[in-house]
Amino acid sequence: MKIQENYSLKNLNTFGVEVSAKYFAEVKDLGDLKYAIEFAKINHLEILFLGGGSNVLFTKSFGGLVIKLDLKGISEAFLNEDEVLVTAKAGENWHEFVQLCLDKNYGGLENLSLIPGNVGTSPMQNIGAYGTEIKDTFVNCKVLNLGSMQVEEFNNEECRFGYRESVFKREGKGKYVILDVTFKLSTENHQLKTEYGAIKTELEKFGIENPTIQDVSRAVISIRQSKLPDPKVTGNAGSFFKNPTVSANQFSKVQKQYPQIPNYPNGEMVKIPAGWLIEQCGWKGKQIGNVASHELQALVIVNKTGAATGKEIYDFSTLIIESVIEKFGIELEREVNII
Ligand code: FAD
Ligand code: EPU
Repeated sequence: MKIQENYSLKNLNTFGVEVSAKYFAEVKDLGDLKYAIEFAKINHLEILFLGGGSNVLFTKSFGGLVIKLDLKGISEAFLNEDEVLVTAKAGENWHEFVQLCLDKNYGGLENLSLIPGNVGTSPMQNIGAYGTEIKDTFVNCKVLNLGSMQVEEFNNEECRFGYRESVFKREGKGKYVILDVTFKLSTENHQLKTEYGAIKTELEKFGIENPTIQDVSRAVISIRQSKLPDPKVTGNAGSFFKNPTVSANQFSKVQKQYPQIPNYPNGEMVKIPAGWLIEQCGWKGKQIGNVASHELQALVIVNKTGAATGKEIYDFSTLIIESVIEKFGIELEREVNII
């Protein structure tokens, strides 16, 4: 394995921001990974692990070692007549993995079709879409503990999954690298999740009354393609912010002023779509310099001209945060990892 110097990361982040890494290594197995980490330790370099680069915003070039995780391999073990454990290594592409499971008629991941990025990153923010999160099928993941350099295992509970959250984004941040992930999927009696409004409508459009898991996947793909920009065409990292969750009390104050506000009650709390808040502040489709809020989904910030710097995108996101605070008194939290 070669460690390269002054390596361009432009094609390795879906915002398409032109930055470089002082040192760069692409690792294909655990041996490579340990070697690259040792190299960083000896040379006192900060390490950044990179999967598909679809949830990062580089605001500057990286002065340490970027380790791109390219560990590949998928294996499976049947538990019983209706359940299979499928394990994929960190560098497997998420959507290709989901499609492979669907080709084998394994159910549970279909609502998560077309999410960019790699399998190894999926536990980081407990990726979710259309009423499903990986925590629903996640069994465990193997990680390399960067302190002890031993391989350890985290089960579902130990990952402390929440909405776009896990132990790896909080207490465990910077302490582990995820090596593989195991999911428990159904082989026969699939539990379809079609209650999410848009999925039902899409299936009706297709004229499907008794959907299969493959139909649900096609519906999700079609919905996503209708509103999310393709990073290969227009740089972006999906939702730039999380949907905020506020107390029922705070929500009712905002609702008095804006009765039409969409909301999803969740126990004592209420989740509000950030896209709506941003659109109400006049940002949808608005462009400043090279950066814009996507015209079909205000929550997605795009590198509109392809020439945006990370700093420009970051500053644009700060303006959005400020205007949402001013209008609604709600502070948006960035979902994208800022480097
Ligand atoms: P990267 O961007 O490479 O890394 C993200 C973070 O994880 C970085 O901090 C990195 O250092 C760290 N990291 C990466 N791999 C590892 C590892 N193996 N071990 C330890 N740390 C690691 N997300 C959703 O949840 N739902 C969606 O519906 C969704 N839609 C999207 C749509 C679009 C068009 C885009 C561009 C993004 C979308 N995302 C969505 C966000 C993104 O796809 C996910 O967060 C994805 O899991 C990121 O994977 P990645 O491999 O690209 O991560
Ligand atoms: N909305 C607007 N204007 C907009 C966008 C959205 O008013 O410009 C309102 C509408 O009321 C709409 C509601 O927001 O009904 C929800 O919009 P959407 O269904 O597009 O979902 P979202 O809440 O914006 C979340 C996730 C997505 C995920 C989808 C589908 C977050 C931060 N984002 O988006 O995840 O794909 O639901 O489940 O939770 C990501 O994390 O990168 C991501 C794309």
